[in-house]
This record gives sequence, structure tokens and C-alpha cells, in this order.
Amino acid sequence: MTDSLVLIRARVLPASSQFYDNLFVLAPDLRRLFRSDLAGQGMRFMTTLAVIAELLNDDAELARALDGLAQAHRGIGVRAEHFPAVGAALLVTLGETLGDHFTCELQEAWRSAYDDFAARMIERGGFD
Ligand code: HEM
Repeated sequence: MTDSLVLIRARVLPASSQFYDNLFVLAPDLRRLFRSDLAGQGMRFMTTLAVIAELLNDDAELARALDGLAQAHRGIGVRAEHFPAVGAALLVTLGETLGDHFTCELQEAWRSAYDDFAARMIERGGFD
């Protein structure tokens, strides 16, 4: 899974707005949570994937980072029910970015990593 980050990083630049295109098709009402200038906003596709992949194997760092992430997201108005659409948009964009390299195994690895991360963030965050 971490290996795929290298490939994703190489392919994602020409299509960095793809994640948002996919997310706002799946869940148009989430658009209002993101600032209008998407280019300058913090939750980029690549950053989000890197945070998930890198922290999941580092329990101490994950515990530290989760508090901040959970608090920041709650402050923005993110709710627990928003997590599945973001996960789905990440997976769709991964598929578009990686093409044939997005094997069933890799898809399952990213799905389970996202679900795990999201569950921990929700547990930590006291989301509505
Ligand atoms: C596992 C799940 C998620 C991860 C790992 C994640 C990761 C991140 C990261 C790394 C940032 C940047 C924080 C910073 O600037 O310090 C961010 C910001 C943000 N995230 Fe998430 N996020 C997740 C889920 C969600 C969900 C479900 C939503 C709901 C729509 C969401 C909406 C946002 C928004 C609106 C921002 C602020 C963007 C801005 O700078 O305007 N995130 N997220």
C-alpha cells in the first residue's frame, strides 16, 4: 500500500482536482464545508492518503495526530455521516489515478485503511 503512494504521487498532479469532482458528485452538500478556493485548501487528495498510510503503522504518532485531526474536522462542521462519501471519493479517485495498478488487493488495503482511520477519528472526535 505504501508503495502505491509513489505511483499515485507521480500520476496525481495533472488531476489534483479529481478528488473534489468525485466527492461533490457523490455528496454535493459537502461543498459548503470546503473553502471556495479549492486549490488553496488543506485536505488534498495526496495529503490525506499520505496521512492515512503513514500514520496507520505508527501508533504513538497516530494517537497524537488523531486528536488534532478530529478536533479540526469537528470545528469545520464535519459529521460522522460525512465519512463514507469521502472514503468512496478517495477510492474512486485512486481507481482513476492508478488504472490497472489498482488491483483488488490494493483496493481492499486502501478501503480498510480508510475505514479504520475514519472509525478512530470518529471515536476520538465526539462527532454528531
Ligand atoms: C480518514 C478521514 C480523513 C482524513 C485522514 C482527513 C485529513 C485531512 C487533513 C490532513 C486535512 C488538512 C488539515 C490541516 O490543514 O492541518 C483536512 C482538512 C479538511 N478536511 Fe479532512 N480528512 C478526513 C475526513 C474528512 C471528512 C469526512 C470531511 C467531510 C467533508 C473532511 C473535510 C475536511 C475539510 C473541510 C478540511 C479543511 C480544508 C480547508 O483547508 O479548507 N475531512 N483533512
